Amino acid sequence: MSTTIKIDPDRTVGHIHPHVFGGFAEHLGRCIYGGIYEPGSPLADSDGIRTDVLEALKRLKMPIMRYPGGNFVSGYRWRDGVGPKEERQTRMELAWHDLEPNTFGTNEFIDFCRKLGTEPYFAVNAGDGDMREARDWLEYCNGTEDTSLVRLRKSHGYDAPHNIKYWGIGNEVDGPWQIGFKTAEEYARTYLEYAKVMKWTDPSIKLVASAVSLWESNWVERAQLLLEQAPDHIDYMALHWYVGNSGDERGFADNDFAAYMGMSERFEERLSAYEGLIHALRLDNAIKKDIPMTIDEWNVWYRVFDEGKLEEIYNLEDALVVAMHFNAFFRHAKTVKMANIAQIVNVIAPIFTSPEGMVLQTTFYPFELYAQHAGDTALDVHWDGDTFDSGPNGTLRTLDVSATLNTSTNQLAVFVINRSEHEAVEGNLRLTDAAVKGDGRQYVVNGPNVKAENTFDTPHQVGTTEFNISASGSTISASFEPHSVNALVFDLA
Ligand code: AHR
Repeated sequence: MSTTIKIDPDRTVGHIHPHVFGGFAEHLGRCIYGGIYEPGSPLADSDGIRTDVLEALKRLKMPIMRYPGGNFVSGYRWRDGVGPKEERQTRMELAWHDLEPNTFGTNEFIDFCRKLGTEPYFAVNAGDGDMREARDWLEYCNGTEDTSLVRLRKSHGYDAPHNIKYWGIGNEVDGPWQIGFKTAEEYARTYLEYAKVMKWTDPSIKLVASAVSLWESNWVERAQLLLEQAPDHIDYMALHWYVGNSGDERGFADNDFAAYMGMSERFEERLSAYEGLIHALRLDNAIKKDIPMTIDEWNVWYRVFDEGKLEEIYNLEDALVVAMHFNAFFRHAKTVKMANIAQIVNVIAPIFTSPEGMVLQTTFYPFELYAQHAGDTALDVHWDGDTFDSGPNGTLRTLDVSATLNTSTNQLAVFVINRSEHEAVEGNLRLTDAAVKGDGRQYVVNGPNVKAENTFDTPHQVGTTEFNISASGSTISASFEPHSVNALVFDLA
């Protein structure tokens, strides 16, 4: 099996915004409590933050972190989570049917973000909350005038404003499962009114509209109403999706490896359709500014739904699908300016904890690979070679490829996923008007078979290996193992 990959570093797709490596932490199951926050644990620092989790997250270089939900935010009262801990309110939590102790809230999350080196991105309650509560939260966080809310923040020990730049208005408002579900008309009106008071409170913020999560519903109409009614107040349109390898209504493949590997077509289809939709609506409504997309919840999620914990154990095929997302985001780098994997710890997450330790799930490794090696510019790759029958998505190329250039260091990274379950693929990489400067490195994420999992008993089934790859000139040969994710990294002359 062989494939030719052609790359011309002058043929660019667009700037890769670092925010595509974003994360998402929700008050759900053991994401916050027992995940990032476990006061009293020997693994936690004096603020209760799990240092092992923090160090693992640093490897993923997440530059932005969405919080506090998710469905949770549609019933959240931010005031419950600030101030002296002994006065914090425990509430019934209706999104996930749990009790919320509120011992972790706004300021604990900001402290966590500062330790991690990530930028907070808050979602406000547009479910059972109102716009006064939303703008009060913004003023509490970002205010600089001598107001009672700013004094309140200062009394909680935070003199300097948090300067939270990114704010989402609501979460998955198109879903009937949401507290305070909204029709297309209701949300467009709600969005505009929230946005007005929020931007009047702090004009420097960027606002995110909850555009689509239920792809079988009226997502075109929702986009249309939002962009007709609130174009000046929308900085991002947020898309959500989850994929899987089960036959249920949220999965697209039915325990079928080839069909699951064909899922890439679903992401491409959605990204292409939605970027075309925004483009058309901008033209139609004479909207001059760009309105990028954020995929601010995405991941593999299909095994656990109702336990209120969502503790997926991922395998190698899931890791390949996570990698395919990054290839798709790079191919749409012009319009995808943020993406947040849902979520970061325990809840459908790359990191899984117990009170005694932690395991890095299979999906951790492709995320790390892309975050560590991607450059700032996506390249327009052409590749041609072996194909496979993916079933529902037809005949597809066995390799899924993207490439990036680091324009400061002139380093090329080629990301190659071999979607064959049993066959290696030989790759012939040809550069146009460019040549490598010496040998490169090949990084490979792989494991013994596509069902391999990393668990506490077998923590290293799937991981990353690396080796030198000899190269000179403009033609490079590389071999891609079955069911592997690869990064080929070269300095260009
Ligand atoms: O990430 C888990 C849940 O998935 C989120 O709370 C919700 O927004 C989505 O349905």
